[in-house]
Amino acid sequence: MRFGVLTSGGDAPGMNAAVGSFVRAGIGNGHEVFGIRNGYLGLLEEDSVQLSLGDVYGISREGGTMLGSARSKVFPTDVGQARGREAIRNLKLDGLVVIGGNGSLAGAHALGSDRVCSIVGLPASIDNDIGHCGMAMGVDTAVNTIVEACDRISDTARAHHRAFIVEVMGRHCGYLAMRSGIAAEADAILFAERNLSEDELVTKLREVLRNSFSKKRDKKRVLIVKAEGVTVPTQVLTQRLQQHLVNDAPGGEIRETILGHVVRGGRPSATDRVIAQRLGLAAATTLIKGGHDEMLAWDAPLDVGEPTRDSQIRRVGLGEMLDETAALLDGRSEMTQRRVAWLEAVEGLLAL
Ligand code: F6P
Repeated sequence: MRFGVLTSGGDAPGMNAAVGSFVRAGIGNGHEVFGIRNGYLGLLEEDSVQLSLGDVYGISREGGTMLGSARSKVFPTDVGQARGREAIRNLKLDGLVVIGGNGSLAGAHALGSDRVCSIVGLPASIDNDIGHCGMAMGVDTAVNTIVEACDRISDTARAHHRAFIVEVMGRHCGYLAMRSGIAAEADAILFAERNLSEDELVTKLREVLRNSFSKKRDKKRVLIVKAEGVTVPTQVLTQRLQQHLVNDAPGGEIRETILGHVVRGGRPSATDRVIAQRLGLAAATTLIKGGHDEMLAWDAPLDVGEPTRDSQIRRVGLGEMLDETAALLDGRSEMTQRRVAWLEAVEGLLAL
Protein backbone atom coordinates (compact mmCIF):
# COMPACT_ATOMS: atom_id res chain seq x y z
CA MET A 1 0.00 0.00 0.00
CA ARG A 2 0.98 3.68 -0.40
CA PHE A 3 0.89 5.72 2.81
CA GLY A 4 1.26 9.48 3.19
CA VAL A 5 2.44 11.34 6.30
CA LEU A 6 2.17 15.07 6.99
CA THR A 7 2.81 17.33 9.97
CA SER A 8 0.45 20.23 10.45
CA GLY A 9 -0.18 23.26 12.66
CA GLY A 10 2.20 24.38 15.41
CA ASP A 11 5.24 22.12 15.34
CA ALA A 12 5.95 20.00 18.41
CA PRO A 13 9.13 18.23 19.59
CA GLY A 14 8.64 14.56 18.76
CA MET A 15 7.05 15.05 15.34
CA ASN A 16 10.20 13.78 13.64
CA ALA A 17 10.34 10.77 15.93
CA ALA A 18 6.76 9.92 14.98
CA VAL A 19 7.51 10.33 11.25
CA GLY A 20 10.60 8.11 11.52
CA SER A 21 8.74 5.40 13.39
CA PHE A 22 5.83 5.52 10.94
CA VAL A 23 8.20 5.19 7.97
CA ARG A 24 10.06 2.25 9.53
CA ALA A 25 6.81 0.45 10.39
CA GLY A 26 5.39 1.09 6.92
CA ILE A 27 8.46 -0.01 4.98
CA GLY A 28 9.12 -2.84 7.43
CA ASN A 29 5.69 -4.25 6.55
CA GLY A 30 6.33 -4.01 2.82
CA HIS A 31 4.56 -0.71 2.07
CA GLU A 32 5.64 2.62 0.55
CA VAL A 33 5.62 5.85 2.54
CA PHE A 34 5.46 9.36 1.10
CA GLY A 35 6.21 12.50 3.08
CA ILE A 36 3.98 15.47 2.26
CA ARG A 37 5.73 18.77 2.79
CA ASN A 38 4.35 21.76 4.72
CA GLY A 39 1.18 20.24 6.08
CA TYR A 40 -2.11 20.67 4.24
CA LEU A 41 -0.58 23.41 2.09
CA GLY A 42 1.75 20.77 0.63
CA LEU A 43 -1.12 18.31 0.20
CA LEU A 44 -3.05 20.83 -1.90
CA GLU A 45 0.07 21.23 -4.07
CA GLU A 46 0.75 17.46 -4.16
CA ASP A 47 4.21 18.32 -2.81
CA SER A 48 5.34 14.85 -1.76
CA VAL A 49 8.51 12.77 -1.67
CA GLN A 50 8.94 9.03 -1.18
CA LEU A 51 10.75 8.40 2.09
CA SER A 52 13.43 5.76 2.58
CA LEU A 53 14.80 4.29 5.80
CA GLY A 54 17.90 6.41 5.23
CA ASP A 55 15.82 9.61 5.05
CA VAL A 56 14.56 9.10 8.61
CA TYR A 57 17.61 7.50 10.17
CA GLY A 58 18.51 9.38 13.38
CA ILE A 59 15.78 12.05 13.08
CA SER A 60 14.08 11.17 16.37
CA ARG A 61 16.47 13.50 18.18
CA GLU A 62 15.64 16.51 15.99
CA GLY A 63 13.21 19.20 17.09
CA GLY A 64 10.66 20.78 14.76
CA THR A 65 9.54 18.75 11.73
CA MET A 66 11.68 17.66 8.75
CA LEU A 67 8.56 17.72 6.54
CA GLY A 68 7.75 21.31 7.44
CA SER A 69 4.36 22.53 8.65
CA ALA A 70 1.99 25.37 7.82
CA ARG A 71 -1.40 26.74 8.74
CA SER A 72 -3.54 26.71 5.56
CA LYS A 73 -6.53 29.03 5.31
CA VAL A 74 -7.69 27.42 2.04
CA PHE A 75 -7.76 23.82 3.23
CA PRO A 76 -10.81 24.06 5.55
CA THR A 77 -12.94 25.58 2.76
CA ASP A 78 -15.06 23.36 0.48
CA VAL A 79 -12.68 24.17 -2.38
CA GLY A 80 -9.71 23.23 -0.23
CA GLN A 81 -11.33 19.98 0.89
CA ALA A 82 -12.19 18.97 -2.68
CA ARG A 83 -8.64 19.82 -3.78
CA GLY A 84 -7.26 17.78 -0.89
CA ARG A 85 -9.27 14.74 -1.92
CA GLU A 86 -8.22 15.15 -5.56
CA ALA A 87 -4.58 15.35 -4.43
CA ILE A 88 -4.95 12.13 -2.43
CA ARG A 89 -6.39 10.41 -5.48
CA ASN A 90 -3.61 11.77 -7.73
CA LEU A 91 -0.98 10.62 -5.22
CA LYS A 92 -2.73 7.23 -5.15
CA LEU A 93 -2.62 7.13 -1.37
CA ASP A 94 -4.30 4.19 0.39
CA GLY A 95 -3.71 5.77 3.80
CA LEU A 96 -2.67 9.08 5.37
CA VAL A 97 -1.49 9.94 8.86
CA VAL A 98 -1.88 13.55 10.01
CA ILE A 99 0.38 14.59 12.90
CA GLY A 100 -0.81 17.77 14.56
CA GLY A 101 -3.01 19.58 17.07
CA ASN A 102 -6.77 19.81 17.29
CA GLY A 103 -7.13 22.10 14.26
CA SER A 104 -5.12 19.70 12.09
CA LEU A 105 -7.01 16.68 13.39
CA ALA A 106 -10.32 18.44 12.66
CA GLY A 107 -9.03 18.82 9.10
CA ALA A 108 -8.26 15.09 8.97
CA HIS A 109 -11.79 14.28 10.19
CA ALA A 110 -13.34 16.48 7.48
CA LEU A 111 -11.03 15.23 4.74
CA GLY A 112 -11.87 11.62 5.53
CA SER A 113 -15.64 12.14 5.62
CA ASP A 114 -16.04 10.40 2.23
CA ARG A 115 -13.20 7.95 2.95
CA VAL A 116 -11.12 9.08 -0.04
CA CYS A 117 -8.48 6.98 1.74
CA SER A 118 -7.97 5.68 5.28
CA ILE A 119 -7.01 8.64 7.48
CA VAL A 120 -5.75 8.56 11.07
CA GLY A 121 -4.37 11.28 13.34
CA LEU A 122 -1.59 11.54 15.90
CA PRO A 123 -1.79 14.11 18.75
CA ALA A 124 1.02 16.67 18.57
CA SER A 125 0.55 19.90 20.48
CA ILE A 126 2.73 21.38 23.21
CA ASP A 127 -0.46 22.89 24.69
CA ASN A 128 -1.81 19.41 25.56
CA ASP A 129 -5.21 20.66 24.43
CA ILE A 130 -6.40 17.49 22.67
CA GLY A 131 -9.43 15.68 24.07
CA HIS A 132 -9.11 12.09 25.34
CA CYS A 133 -5.31 12.35 25.15
CA GLY A 134 -3.46 12.42 28.46
CA MET A 135 -0.20 13.61 26.94
CA ALA A 136 0.29 14.82 23.38
CA MET A 137 3.65 14.79 21.60
CA GLY A 138 5.77 17.80 22.59
CA VAL A 139 4.30 18.51 26.01
CA ASP A 140 7.05 16.90 28.08
CA THR A 141 9.79 18.70 26.16
CA ALA A 142 7.97 22.03 26.40
CA VAL A 143 7.52 21.65 30.16
CA ASN A 144 11.23 20.87 30.57
CA THR A 145 12.12 23.89 28.45
CA ILE A 146 9.95 26.16 30.59
CA VAL A 147 11.34 24.75 33.85
CA GLU A 148 14.91 25.24 32.60
CA ALA A 149 14.06 28.87 31.74
CA CYS A 150 12.37 29.42 35.12
CA ASP A 151 15.40 28.04 36.92
CA ARG A 152 17.61 30.51 35.04
CA ILE A 153 15.23 33.38 35.75
CA SER A 154 15.17 32.38 39.43
CA ASP A 155 18.97 32.63 39.63
CA THR A 156 19.01 36.26 38.52
CA ALA A 157 15.81 37.08 40.41
CA ARG A 158 17.39 35.78 43.63
CA ALA A 159 20.50 37.86 42.98
CA HIS A 160 18.43 41.03 42.83
CA HIS A 161 15.60 40.13 45.22
CA ARG A 162 13.10 40.43 42.34
CA ALA A 163 9.78 39.04 41.24
CA PHE A 164 9.32 37.78 37.68
CA ILE A 165 6.28 36.99 35.60
CA VAL A 166 7.25 34.33 33.05
CA GLU A 167 4.69 34.02 30.24
CA VAL A 168 4.52 30.65 28.51
CA MET A 169 2.70 29.26 25.46
CA GLY A 170 -0.71 27.66 25.68
CA ARG A 171 -3.13 29.61 23.48
CA HIS A 172 -6.37 28.18 24.85
CA CYS A 173 -5.17 25.75 27.51
CA GLY A 174 -3.23 26.50 30.67
CA TYR A 175 -1.78 23.02 31.06
CA LEU A 176 1.83 24.07 30.30
CA ALA A 177 1.70 26.86 32.88
CA MET A 178 0.10 24.54 35.44
CA ARG A 179 2.59 21.69 35.09
CA SER A 180 5.73 23.80 34.69
CA GLY A 181 4.67 26.14 37.48
CA ILE A 182 4.49 23.24 39.94
CA ALA A 183 7.81 21.85 38.69
CA ALA A 184 9.57 25.21 38.96
CA GLU A 185 8.14 25.84 42.42
CA ALA A 186 6.34 28.97 41.27
CA ASP A 187 4.77 31.23 43.89
CA ALA A 188 1.73 31.77 41.66
CA ILE A 189 0.35 30.20 38.46
CA LEU A 190 -2.06 32.12 36.19
CA PHE A 191 -4.22 30.37 33.59
CA ALA A 192 -7.24 31.46 31.55
CA GLU A 193 -9.48 28.67 32.85
CA ARG A 194 -9.84 30.66 36.10
CA ASN A 195 -11.18 33.61 34.11
CA LEU A 196 -10.03 36.26 36.62
CA SER A 197 -10.32 39.96 35.77
CA GLU A 198 -7.32 42.28 35.66
CA ASP A 199 -8.18 43.75 39.05
CA GLU A 200 -8.66 40.28 40.58
CA LEU A 201 -5.26 39.22 39.24
CA VAL A 202 -3.56 42.36 40.58
CA THR A 203 -5.19 41.94 43.99
CA LYS A 204 -4.13 38.29 44.17
CA LEU A 205 -0.56 38.97 43.06
CA ARG A 206 -0.18 41.99 45.36
CA GLU A 207 -0.92 39.64 48.27
CA VAL A 208 1.68 37.13 47.07
CA LEU A 209 4.33 39.85 46.65
CA ARG A 210 3.52 41.56 49.95
CA ASN A 211 3.79 38.32 51.90
CA SER A 212 6.83 37.01 50.00
CA PHE A 213 8.86 40.19 50.39
CA SER A 214 7.73 40.80 54.00
CA LYS A 215 10.43 40.86 56.68
CA LYS A 216 8.84 37.78 58.21
CA ARG A 217 9.05 35.64 55.04
CA ASP A 218 11.83 37.48 53.15
CA LYS A 219 11.79 35.33 49.99
CA LYS A 220 14.69 36.08 47.72
CA ARG A 221 12.69 35.54 44.52
CA VAL A 222 9.04 35.44 43.51
CA LEU A 223 8.19 33.47 40.36
CA ILE A 224 4.81 33.87 38.67
CA VAL A 225 4.13 31.56 35.70
CA LYS A 226 1.43 32.92 33.37
CA ALA A 227 -0.21 31.14 30.46
CA GLU A 228 -0.46 33.30 27.34
CA GLY A 229 -4.19 32.51 27.31
CA VAL A 230 -4.64 34.92 30.24
CA THR A 231 -5.67 37.89 28.15
CA VAL A 232 -4.46 40.57 30.57
CA PRO A 233 -1.15 41.61 28.99
CA THR A 234 1.86 40.62 31.07
CA GLN A 235 3.32 44.10 30.77
CA VAL A 236 0.14 45.61 32.25
CA LEU A 237 0.40 43.32 35.26
CA THR A 238 4.05 44.13 35.90
CA GLN A 239 3.44 47.87 35.52
CA ARG A 240 0.52 47.86 37.97
CA LEU A 241 2.33 45.61 40.45
CA GLN A 242 5.51 47.70 40.30
CA GLN A 243 3.48 50.76 41.30
CA HIS A 244 2.09 48.90 44.31
CA LEU A 245 5.51 47.56 45.34
CA VAL A 246 6.61 51.09 46.21
CA ASN A 247 4.33 50.90 49.26
CA ASP A 248 3.79 47.15 49.65
CA ALA A 249 7.47 46.18 49.59
CA PRO A 250 9.74 49.22 49.29
CA GLY A 251 12.76 48.40 47.16
CA GLY A 252 11.02 45.40 45.65
CA GLU A 253 11.10 45.06 41.85
CA ILE A 254 9.20 43.01 39.29
CA ARG A 255 10.17 42.13 35.70
CA GLU A 256 8.64 40.02 32.96
CA THR A 257 9.97 37.43 30.48
CA ILE A 258 7.86 36.24 27.54
CA LEU A 259 9.18 32.83 26.46
CA GLY A 260 7.10 32.64 23.28
CA HIS A 261 8.33 30.20 20.62
CA VAL A 262 11.36 29.18 22.64
CA VAL A 263 8.91 26.82 24.37
CA ARG A 264 8.25 24.95 21.11
CA GLY A 265 11.88 24.42 20.04
CA GLY A 266 14.63 22.09 21.11
CA ARG A 267 15.47 18.43 20.92
CA PRO A 268 12.61 16.19 22.08
CA SER A 269 12.96 14.71 25.55
CA ALA A 270 13.35 10.95 25.94
CA THR A 271 9.72 10.76 27.03
CA ASP A 272 8.52 12.57 23.92
CA ARG A 273 10.68 10.38 21.69
CA VAL A 274 9.16 7.26 23.22
CA ILE A 275 5.58 8.59 23.03
CA ALA A 276 6.08 9.73 19.44
CA GLN A 277 7.70 6.52 18.23
CA ARG A 278 5.05 4.32 19.82
CA LEU A 279 2.32 6.51 18.31
CA GLY A 280 4.00 6.36 14.90
CA LEU A 281 4.07 2.55 15.03
CA ALA A 282 0.43 2.43 16.19
CA ALA A 283 -0.60 4.69 13.30
CA ALA A 284 1.04 2.42 10.73
CA THR A 285 -0.45 -0.71 12.32
CA THR A 286 -3.91 0.89 12.37
CA LEU A 287 -3.73 1.94 8.70
CA ILE A 288 -2.49 -1.51 7.68
CA LYS A 289 -5.52 -2.98 9.48
CA GLY A 290 -7.82 -0.56 7.59
CA GLY A 291 -8.51 1.79 10.51
CA HIS A 292 -10.01 5.15 9.56
CA ASP A 293 -11.21 8.41 11.09
CA GLU A 294 -9.39 7.66 14.35
CA MET A 295 -6.76 9.30 16.51
CA LEU A 296 -4.17 7.12 18.23
CA ALA A 297 -4.37 8.56 21.74
CA TRP A 298 -1.67 8.35 24.39
CA ASP A 299 -3.03 7.67 27.88
CA ALA A 300 -6.71 7.98 26.90
CA PRO A 301 -9.39 7.11 29.47
CA LEU A 302 -9.96 3.34 29.55
CA ASP A 303 -13.67 3.75 28.78
CA VAL A 304 -12.99 5.63 25.53
CA GLY A 305 -12.27 4.07 22.13
CA GLU A 306 -10.60 0.71 21.58
CA PRO A 307 -7.33 -0.73 22.94
CA THR A 308 -4.31 -1.44 20.77
CA ARG A 309 -1.55 -3.88 21.43
CA ASP A 310 0.30 -0.95 23.05
CA SER A 311 -1.03 -0.67 26.60
CA GLN A 312 -0.65 3.15 26.58
CA ILE A 313 -2.40 3.77 23.27
CA ARG A 314 -6.09 3.61 22.39
CA ARG A 315 -7.93 4.15 19.08
CA VAL A 316 -10.34 7.07 19.58
CA GLY A 317 -12.80 8.28 16.94
CA LEU A 318 -11.73 11.69 15.58
CA GLY A 319 -15.28 13.02 15.98
CA GLU A 320 -15.38 11.86 19.61
CA MET A 321 -11.97 13.43 20.24
CA LEU A 322 -13.10 16.75 18.73
CA ASP A 323 -16.20 16.85 20.94
CA GLU A 324 -14.07 16.26 24.03
CA THR A 325 -11.52 18.85 22.88
CA ALA A 326 -14.30 21.44 22.66
CA ALA A 327 -15.39 20.55 26.21
CA LEU A 328 -11.80 20.63 27.44
CA LEU A 329 -11.29 24.13 26.05
CA ASP A 330 -14.58 25.66 27.18
CA GLY A 331 -14.31 24.22 30.69
CA ARG A 332 -17.17 21.70 30.43
CA SER A 333 -14.85 18.71 30.58
CA GLU A 334 -14.24 16.91 33.85
CA MET A 335 -10.50 16.92 33.07
CA THR A 336 -10.36 20.73 32.97
CA GLN A 337 -12.51 21.07 36.06
CA ARG A 338 -10.27 18.64 37.95
CA ARG A 339 -7.08 20.45 36.92
CA VAL A 340 -8.48 23.87 37.89
CA ALA A 341 -9.91 22.64 41.20
CA TRP A 342 -6.61 21.04 42.20
CA LEU A 343 -4.60 24.16 41.45
CA GLU A 344 -7.07 26.37 43.29
CA ALA A 345 -6.74 24.04 46.28
CA VAL A 346 -2.93 24.30 46.36
CA GLU A 347 -2.74 28.00 45.45
CA GLY A 348 -2.20 29.06 49.06
CA LEU A 349 0.59 26.52 49.52
CA LEU A 350 2.44 27.74 46.42
CA ALA A 351 2.62 31.25 47.90
CA LEU A 352 3.94 30.16 51.30
O1 F6P B 1 0.93 24.86 18.87
C1 F6P B 1 0.26 25.66 19.78
C2 F6P B 1 0.93 26.99 19.87
O2 F6P B 1 2.28 26.83 20.17
C3 F6P B 1 0.30 27.86 20.91
O3 F6P B 1 0.75 27.57 22.22
C4 F6P B 1 0.70 29.22 20.44
O4 F6P B 1 -0.12 30.25 20.94
C5 F6P B 1 0.55 29.07 18.94
O5 F6P B 1 0.84 27.71 18.64
C6 F6P B 1 1.48 29.98 18.17
O6 F6P B 1 1.14 29.79 16.80
P1 F6P B 1 2.14 30.33 15.67
O7 F6P B 1 3.37 29.50 15.71
O8 F6P B 1 1.35 30.14 14.40
O9 F6P B 1 2.44 31.77 16.00
